[in-house]
Amino acid sequence: MTIVINMRDGVDERKIKVAARLILEGKLVAFPTETVYGLGADALNEEAVKRIFEAKGRPADNPLIVHIADFNDLKKLAREVPKEAKLLAERFWPGPLTIVLPKKDEVPLVTTGGLDTVAVRMPAHEIALALIRASTPVAAPSANISGKPSPTLAEHVVDDFYGRIGAIIDGGPTKVGVESTVIDLSSERPTLLRPGGLPLEEIEAVIGPVEIHPAVKGKNADLARAPGMKYKHYSPNAQVIVVEGPKEMVREKIRELVREYRSKGYRVGVMATEEFEADEFYHLGRTVEDVAKNLFKALRELDRRGVDVIIAEGVEERGLGLAVMNRLRKAAGYRIVRA
Ligand code: TXA
Ligand code: MG
Repeated sequence: MTIVINMRDGVDERKIKVAARLILEGKLVAFPTETVYGLGADALNEEAVKRIFEAKGRPADNPLIVHIADFNDLKKLAREVPKEAKLLAERFWPGPLTIVLPKKDEVPLVTTGGLDTVAVRMPAHEIALALIRASTPVAAPSANISGKPSPTLAEHVVDDFYGRIGAIIDGGPTKVGVESTVIDLSSERPTLLRPGGLPLEEIEAVIGPVEIHPAVKGKNADLARAPGMKYKHYSPNAQVIVVEGPKEMVREKIRELVREYRSKGYRVGVMATEEFEADEFYHLGRTVEDVAKNLFKALRELDRRGVDVIIAEGVEERGLGLAVMNRLRKAAGYRIVRA
């Protein structure tokens, strides 16, 4: 049985206690964060963490993020906390930033996908923080079946997990819409492993230049340090095609592709920042923040409307645009059309 806990009006400590008890009993609880919904379990309980992998159908070597509510908990999880980590945590936590550090023995290898490092973040969401405070550090991947777009509404979690987990806390739509930025501080040079809700430019303003892992932009890369990047991701059932290039030319190309695919008999959906004629259309909003917030919802929604092909407008790779393009290209299986 899955209980759906309504907390759209904010934190309710009595309901938090119910959810926290489930976590401490080794059950799975989905909860909202500022980025996407997470599928949480007690990060230090091997059996509980295994259930996350089972429920998601997630490969065992793809490590989880451990969520904390207090900076001091970082010292319980990480063997060393370098200066850069302190600076970033001070400046951006709670927030959409995940830091990878050498792990302590207390963190089970199941949680870290067998790695000697642990990824930690403090989410900027009152419900998430209250749940962690009332229980324990919580390991949580995005609350979607492995390979599906990440959930930004409790309804998405219901679609993927109802009947299979202990509880789903409904906190309404998530604010950021793409997952946290993951930065590795466990080796000599700070390295961006996944662009996300915190723009790289803001991180570099605090700790200086950050290396970008090759897998962030392309598909053929050495994936040893970023295990999550080698799997198919964010894929709806429809085939996604991303159109990239100068804005005017992208518009023209989208119109052309719509005509081409429709003439072949496909049902075509378009997701873009301005209106297009197609079988189905999803308006992503105007700013890159809007696009980030609506991206996963749009993929799920166009799928629901039964299109065969989704043509997506690319955005500039600046600020949140780096995360948006990373997710879009993956959703498209790197089917990119240059305008
Ligand atoms: O915003 C988010 O980060 C959301 C919310 C729920 O916090 N969580 C999330 O988790 O997106 P997940 O499991 O979907 O993505 C975690 C990413 C994966 O790419 C994984 O490979 C990477 O973080 N990761 C986790 N631990 C790592 C480690 N020790 N070393 C390298 N990468 C790690
Ligand atoms: Mg995920």
